[in-house]
Amino acid sequence: MTAAHPAGSGTLAEQLDELGQALEQGLASAHTAAEVEAIRVAYLGRKGLLAGLMSSLAKTPPEQRPALGQKANQVKALLQEQMETRLRELERRKEHELLARFDPSLPGRTQWLGSLHPVTLVTEEICQAFVALGFEVVEGPELETDFYNFEALNLPPDHPARDMQDTFYIGESTLLRTHTSPLQVRTMERMAPPVAAIAPGKVYRRDSDLTHTPMFHQIEGFLVDTDVSMADLRGTLTAFVHKIFGPDTIVRFRPSFFPFTEPSAEVDISCMLCGGRGTCAGKSCRVCKQTGWLEILGCGMIDPAVFAAVGYDPEVYTGFAFGLGVERVAMLKYGIGDLRMFFENDIRFVSQFG
Ligand code: PHE
Repeated sequence: MTAAHPAGSGTLAEQLDELGQALEQGLASAHTAAEVEAIRVAYLGRKGLLAGLMSSLAKTPPEQRPALGQKANQVKALLQEQMETRLRELERRKEHELLARFDPSLPGRTQWLGSLHPVTLVTEEICQAFVALGFEVVEGPELETDFYNFEALNLPPDHPARDMQDTFYIGESTLLRTHTSPLQVRTMERMAPPVAAIAPGKVYRRDSDLTHTPMFHQIEGFLVDTDVSMADLRGTLTAFVHKIFGPDTIVRFRPSFFPFTEPSAEVDISCMLCGGRGTCAGKSCRVCKQTGWLEILGCGMIDPAVFAAVGYDPEVYTGFAFGLGVERVAMLKYGIGDLRMFFENDIRFVSQFG
């Protein structure tokens, strides 16, 4: 008889019954699968209580052994069944507890979706406005040669107007493009007139302050054909401004200078915050600084020198070109006060636009 025998006395048959009862009680107070497993090892394990009783089977009279053996097997099967029942019970209880804590009325967790950056959105919107007018979208390299960025645009070496654009030179005649105007030259080299294209892209200047970042985005637009006039430029830009800023926006042309356009102009639109009045509720308008106008782009009639550089006959063809800053348009459109926000990648900012 093993020391672990539950009662330690009585016939083997009685001891087997007692074992069954003891196990039942033990299981009732087991609350985890681990506790049930500990009981299984203690009762049914190789060195467990049942094995102990079975070893004393050899000491019983031979004629009783078959009946006792059968009983032992029945007890073992019963014990196993009770254990499994208890395990299932505990499992179900766990599920109930989980369900009791689960609130099906809570909103689900939505998938975090990315959104387009405001610069991308505005670029696409502007491109679409011009594509609707018959322009095609062209692109070019950000690393440019002096020829495309300056010379072919009527900005020979030592031309004072080069100072308007602080430049990142990479080599003696390679630089990060300072504007998208090189796309005028590249496109005209490739295509015979009539040409109507817009060229969006990144541009670089050695500037960094509240209103300037070393990299920003421009969209260049140009159209070349016979008999293109400033009136076509004005009509095209007015249609564009009305589409982006609304049909009540007023467009104003101011004389300006660019080496690659003649005549040149700067385009202002009436301030969308104060409606061009310069004041909002009696106070000076903070967006247009009380002027009622906002500058949005530079433009002009393409200089004959540019046509000469690309092999177009300036006696036959005329054309217009314009260049606008995408961030500037986005700031005005969405009322964003700080240019640097576009490039800080703060999720609270960029997720507001998609
Ligand atoms: N490239 C000029 C700039 O970046 C803008 C411009 C483009 C002006 C086309 C006239 C015509 O300032």
